[in-house]
Amino acid sequence: MTATNLPPLMESPPGPKTVIDGKTYLYFGGTSYLGLAGNAEVIEAACDAARRFGMHSATSRTGFGHNAATVAVERLAAEFFGKEKAFYYVSGYVGNHILIQAVAERFDVILMEEMAHFCLQEASALPGKPIVRFAHRDAEDFARKVRECAAAGKRPLALTDGIFPATGEIAPLDRYVRALADCGAATLLIDDAHGFGAVGENGRGSLEHFGLWDGKNSPPVNGDVLPDGLAIYVSGTLSKALGGFGGILAGSADLIERAHTTSHYYNGASAPASPVAGGTAKALEIVLRDPGLRKRLQNNVALLRGKLRELGLAIDDSPASIVGVTVGDAENMRRIHRELKAADIIVPYSTYSGAGKEGTLRIAVFANHTLEMLERLVNEFRRIL
Ligand SMILES: Cc1ncc(COP(=O)(O)O)c(C=O)c1O
Repeated sequence: MTATNLPPLMESPPGPKTVIDGKTYLYFGGTSYLGLAGNAEVIEAACDAARRFGMHSATSRTGFGHNAATVAVERLAAEFFGKEKAFYYVSGYVGNHILIQAVAERFDVILMEEMAHFCLQEASALPGKPIVRFAHRDAEDFARKVRECAAAGKRPLALTDGIFPATGEIAPLDRYVRALADCGAATLLIDDAHGFGAVGENGRGSLEHFGLWDGKNSPPVNGDVLPDGLAIYVSGTLSKALGGFGGILAGSADLIERAHTTSHYYNGASAPASPVAGGTAKALEIVLRDPGLRKRLQNNVALLRGKLRELGLAIDDSPASIVGVTVGDAENMRRIHRELKAADIIVPYSTYSGAGKEGTLRIAVFANHTLEMLERLVNEFRRIL
């Protein structure tokens, strides 16, 4: 890599104002949706955990990787998601690797969303079962493939992102659940990395948005692994909306026990490092005591989507904190990215998972973006488009 194409060098915590390559930008990149990555209390808690427990987590959880900071993350995450227990591991990326092994006895064939995140694609290879792809967010294609499974006497496991990370599109989970409900034993497994903390009345993510978080007509989320009926599982991360770090699974004691024992992330991998566990526990404490933070984020998201629509842009009504703006071809979007940057605004042009062939301009909305900041972004878009 030459000096001219090095990735941007971050020189401050990510936030509405972020220092990159020596310059301060109005920043709409990355994932710190609740604005906590640079929060003073979170940083102090991380420093405190470093002083108490050191940099490292010592070993795996069954060795000496179990300390007050890690235990606090699991207790607070279980409370946040309204579940019996939680399992905190080193990265959201591996959440589906863990879950797919925990529920392996429930399915014969995998239905894979064609634009699912890399981590789901990789996890799908682990059970060694046949994989059938369904078209991106296409509930009819999904239902057709579910019927084909049922006709062949095969129990399906459907894999999808809740929120697609480049575009902010939400998967039609309500329609997927309806299609799976008639099918006997069926499993829906969601990666909700970008929904956790940000989407839904209580921040429980995409399922909550559709009224499927332990809803009246749906099975409990992340419940016991039973042989029959429809089951819904979801994993996520504390590294995005929460501004902390590490993957999280919150569910019934039975599910968490299985997650500890059917893969080796509990007994064969280091626990998340103590300082990040300390900072992450504090971030969870903050969102539990201040639901207003999530409200501010959700208001900002609705406001920005509305204002961009007024410019004539095709913006959907997803509740995600990511607003994908796809306008013209890749070259045009690169131009808009460059012109925004010249006006001291960062909106990445993204070709990340789910971005499609042309890519997209990916706006990340934060709880601590002010009205003035959002209006400035919209005004610059109006000028540049
Ligand atoms: C959809 C999705 N799932 C999982 C991950 C991985 O989560 P983590 O960064 O916590 O490992 C990411 C991005 O990093 C993502 O975009």
